[in-house]
Amino acid sequence: MKKIKNISYEQFASSSELPTDEQELLSAAMKATENAYAPYSEFFVGAAVALANGEVILGNNQENGAFPSGLCAERTALFSVGAAGKSSLIRKIAIRAHSARFKMDQAVGPCGACRQVMIEYERLSGEPMVVLLQGESGDIIRLVGVNENLLPFTFDLVNLKK
Ligand code: THU
Repeated sequence: MKKIKNISYEQFASSSELPTDEQELLSAAMKATENAYAPYSEFFVGAAVALANGEVILGNNQENGAFPSGLCAERTALFSVGAAGKSSLIRKIAIRAHSARFKMDQAVGPCGACRQVMIEYERLSGEPMVVLLQGESGDIIRLVGVNENLLPFTFDLVNLKK
């Protein structure tokens, strides 16, 4: 049997335990929920991506009456970074959410499709991505490396080339 590797993450009860830039990134992700367009789910998600040059790029979920046409907050933000030609600068992402229907006091994990997109942008950046997850309140999950700790056994581009 080969060695089994566990994923690793940290859990914080308060953002004050985090460095200032990460506290600000979490606030930016919550602010980003204000522009979410989510009349169908009433679930408002915000993502804030920190770049190596200090810029913060925001995204939020954008729904559509033809349901599959909408897009999650994480991909809206990361595609926006890609569209600006700045993928190599991606370092951190904060993701937060709140609902009009219930109190969201748990961290929200990105959906599978977003994880797959996150891992590809992580590869493009060449640096392990710091991921921060939080609801409107409650504990914060912090992990380093989408490949290492958010999407093990990922579909890899090398599989297309063999
Ligand atoms: N949503 C996100 O924005 N990110 C995720 O990772 C999961 C779900 C959005 C999609 C949809 O607008 C709403 O949340 C409910 O699924």
